Amino acid sequence: MKDAATRIQDIERAIESELPGDTRAIAAVSGGIDSTVAALLVARVVGQRLRPLFVDTGLLRQGEAEKVLDTVRRSGLSLELIDAREEFFQTLKGVVDPEEKRSRIGEAFIRVFEKESARTGATHLVQGTIAPDWIESGGGMRDTIKKHHNVGGLPKDMRLKVVEPLRDLYKDEVRAIAAQLGIPDSHRQPFPGPGLAVRVLGEVTVDRVETLRKATAVVEEMVERAVAQGKLSAPWQYFAVLLPVQSTGVIGDNRTYANTIAVRLVESTDAMSATASNPPAWLLREMSERITRELSGKINRVVYDITDKPPATIEWE
Ligand code: XMP
Repeated sequence: MKDAATRIQDIERAIESELPGDTRAIAAVSGGIDSTVAALLVARVVGQRLRPLFVDTGLLRQGEAEKVLDTVRRSGLSLELIDAREEFFQTLKGVVDPEEKRSRIGEAFIRVFEKESARTGATHLVQGTIAPDWIESGGGMRDTIKKHHNVGGLPKDMRLKVVEPLRDLYKDEVRAIAAQLGIPDSHRQPFPGPGLAVRVLGEVTVDRVETLRKATAVVEEMVERAVAQGKLSAPWQYFAVLLPVQSTGVIGDNRTYANTIAVRLVESTDAMSATASNPPAWLLREMSERITRELSGKINRVVYDITDKPPATIEWE
């Protein structure tokens, strides 16, 4: 395996030829490691000819926009915030099919970028696509498993040319580059481009996303606290999923009929395969207790996903 410094040189040389002269570009930065590294590498080569954008889709986790802006700006990129919450909820109205959700989200992102690029004369769009994204989107010899939003969701009539400096790399290689570039907090867990939408099974509404956002905050906070206290080794990824399943419960003397949250903790190295983590029972019990209490009336049941990848995928959609 090449070392990170050599890889950075190779990538920067490729960027020079992809974005020559006074070619202008915008970058889609999600705050995830892939898109941050991609934008930073391009900015190192083209400087002010790149405008890095962060889109608030309304599908982010609690406090995420603020956190991302702060972290990415500290790594030296001047990131601009675009509020597109209304556009995303509008295009997702009534959609329940997972692949249709991904396509619509991909398309909504592109429409936002086209609007923004028109303002600055940008002709290129920098994305943080990595190898597993396009392999799993049917780019290789395999069947399409899911359209990753930054690959399968691109509309055919898109005018912007896509620049993907990390498209041949795997996650661990991207992490090595991030460390070399001194990007802070490079060990955050991965978060999918389509955001909480692929963890809200069924229709994506403001209310249902808000329920999942709260459950997600509980899972993240409890896992991170247990890790900090040395009671759990850090899982590779940990999150909640809102199921479109209602079941009967009871509070005091009253029957409830409410939704279910699934909790998923997995171990992996490159996301191509994963195993379900084996967290201590007390942690799962406390999660269930907190989620059902803090989301009383909305959630009355919490289940733990014990499935590996394969046969399941990490995300539920
Ligand atoms: P799956 O669910 O396919 O996920 O086993 C593998 C890894 O990729 C993340 N993921 C995505 N990342 N755009 C992304 O940038 C996407 O559309 C997307 N879908 C899944 C997922 O969180 C896991 O880490």
